[in-house]
Amino acid sequence: MARIKYLILAAVLFAAGTASAKDKEVYKDPSAPVEARVEDLLGRMTLYEKVAQLSQYTLGRNDNVNNLGEAVSHIPAEIGSLIYFDGNAVLRNAMQRRAVEESRLGIPVLFGYDVIHGFRTVFQIPLGQAASWNPDLAAKANRAAAQEASAAGIDWTFSPMVDVARDPRWGRVSEGYGEDSYTNAVFGAAAVKAYQGDDLSAEGNIAACLKHYVGYGASEAGRDYVPTEISAQTLWDTYLPSFEAGVRAGAATVMSAFNIISGVPASANHYTMTEVLKEKWGHDGFIVSDWDAIAQLVNQGMAADGKEAACYAFNAGLEMDMNDGLYMKHLQALVEEGKVSMDMVDDAVRRVLRLKFRLGLFEDPYTDERPEEECFLLPESLAAAEQLAQESMVLLKNEDSTLPLSGVSKIALIGPLADNQEDLLGNWSARGRAEDVVSIHDGLVKEMEGIAEVLLARGCGFDGQDTTMFPEAERIAGEADIVIVCLGEKRGWSGENASRSTISLPDIQERLLRAVSRAGKPVVLLLSSGRPLDVSRMDRYADAILEIWQPGVCAGKAVAGILSGRYNPSGKLAITFPYSTGQIPIYYNHRNRARRGTQGLYQDIQSTPMYEFGYGLSYTTFEYGPLTVSSDSVAPDGSITAEITVTNTGNVDGKETVHWFICDPYSRLTRPVKELRSFGKQLIKAGESVTFRFEIDPLRDLGFVDGDGNRFVEPGEYRIMVKDRTAVINVTD
Ligand code: BGC
Repeated sequence: MARIKYLILAAVLFAAGTASAKDKEVYKDPSAPVEARVEDLLGRMTLYEKVAQLSQYTLGRNDNVNNLGEAVSHIPAEIGSLIYFDGNAVLRNAMQRRAVEESRLGIPVLFGYDVIHGFRTVFQIPLGQAASWNPDLAAKANRAAAQEASAAGIDWTFSPMVDVARDPRWGRVSEGYGEDSYTNAVFGAAAVKAYQGDDLSAEGNIAACLKHYVGYGASEAGRDYVPTEISAQTLWDTYLPSFEAGVRAGAATVMSAFNIISGVPASANHYTMTEVLKEKWGHDGFIVSDWDAIAQLVNQGMAADGKEAACYAFNAGLEMDMNDGLYMKHLQALVEEGKVSMDMVDDAVRRVLRLKFRLGLFEDPYTDERPEEECFLLPESLAAAEQLAQESMVLLKNEDSTLPLSGVSKIALIGPLADNQEDLLGNWSARGRAEDVVSIHDGLVKEMEGIAEVLLARGCGFDGQDTTMFPEAERIAGEADIVIVCLGEKRGWSGENASRSTISLPDIQERLLRAVSRAGKPVVLLLSSGRPLDVSRMDRYADAILEIWQPGVCAGKAVAGILSGRYNPSGKLAITFPYSTGQIPIYYNHRNRARRGTQGLYQDIQSTPMYEFGYGLSYTTFEYGPLTVSSDSVAPDGSITAEITVTNTGNVDGKETVHWFICDPYSRLTRPVKELRSFGKQLIKAGESVTFRFEIDPLRDLGFVDGDGNRFVEPGEYRIMVKDRTAVINVTD
């Protein structure tokens, strides 16, 4: 309503065209409403100036190896946005001065950057964050990331990634929140709010960008940049909900993806970008293309050349062109030729300007140039990094209570990740530095000071065939009371353009594990990876297995805390660990098959996963009471509460996550065997009980969307499920 009012007001002012109305530079008046400022500024802009606002180049050293290219040496002062690759505000301010002082209208530049899981304080990777089931804690990390990035001159992060991903061969599974739409929605929305705060212009707040819109995670065979085949039903069921949640949380921007969605590239997709995002969800921010995604419409076989690509993308609703310069090159001509309307250009520019006003860039275009130690690696950020790291680690196996360590005086710490810093940062580690990372060795030595001696041997590299370090590893295994083997992935093995044909570790690592296990000592296997791994062959050589993901700067402290028992592990998987690569895709919320029992199973391997979604052990035991519901029937517009009481029956305090699943067993559109609709994590002291609640809104929690995005709830039977407990309720007509 307010927007319409200001549009009318602006139209009246400009129709009058009086010198005084034009001379009053409303856009420079901080007390004027944002929409009035936008209209005033828009009315003053030439077509060239408008097109420049829709263009993004780079500034500084590009550190994304997938995007190497010419650094832009001569940046127009009118440019809309830049990806900022520097670690402090100095270069940014110099460029901003050029925009503000040398361009005709003085429109400040918007500086973006990939702040994915921290800026200088690097946190656990998002896939690990999801395993914490603690979105408030993840939000603390995002908040710290925003503050550090903002201090370095960044106004806008290309995060969160809320692509549901069910193929662990795809390297980018590490960047999102796992295989489930609801989990991605909850963590994505929390990240948006943490980055942006309540007021984008307040200090330390930066704009968020939901990416990659949409369905990128469905990349065929886990390969990057390839097409996807997504039915309308699956688009709405699986891939759109996390974006919708992010938009509802106020995400300022969205990034279009590289994939083709059933024939139409995501970056030229009118349905997803205009009809769904803008018209149905009312998003008033803008879409930025992914890197060169517009130019890639040519590679994808849609556009014959760059000009046609720009035309397709722009008319589909993509406002800002990242890097390839095609809008800069062709948009003016496309308008002059009548292929792109001036109204659409104005609408696009309006969206970009709106964000700049909301960020307060016109009032405060520069960033204070403060010393690093005032901005980065602050104690509260490091505390959040350690807590998030430990809460996200998942204890997969713990035979005979091998962990926590007790009664040991000599520990053999072995493996390529035992004394490693760099790879524990994970991919997209922004301005993180390997030297900031506490290695597992350093963490353990400190933790066990005065209790146990830590012997160290690398044993082998990440891959290759070199076994010359095996004997030393075997020797210390023989000397120690317990053997801890740290295996896993290098940081570059996951992330963008890092697909793998198998989720097994290279043979050399499995051989090392077998070799050191021959010493006959209890073996703890620590796995660090950006994806689920095939542990089926390693399993029998390990008494305990802890998945630590890529935990960031406090890696060693968090790992050591779990090993010693200072922390009780509470992570649970947000993505299925397949038994082997051949099971992919395998995820918890699949639909039922036609034949039951033994039919439809693999002949050569088990058909169930190695570790399922939601799985994770603790040092204590939790007993679940009965699952009760406040009523066994509910009207579609009514409400109902489900409850379950969980008791900590062990000797140590522990945090437990309760996952609330629902199932609609019979429906005219078949539904998955179960779907996560809520979760809660709480500390339960030893011997005490806590009641978890799920407030059910039938339409929201039991209903679903059809392939056109219409949400409804059918009358009939529904199941509410927690672990092996089920309550049946009826939705009435
Ligand atoms: C990635 C995006 C990233 C962009 C800018 C692209 O190659 O797909 O996720 O935000 O580069 O660095």
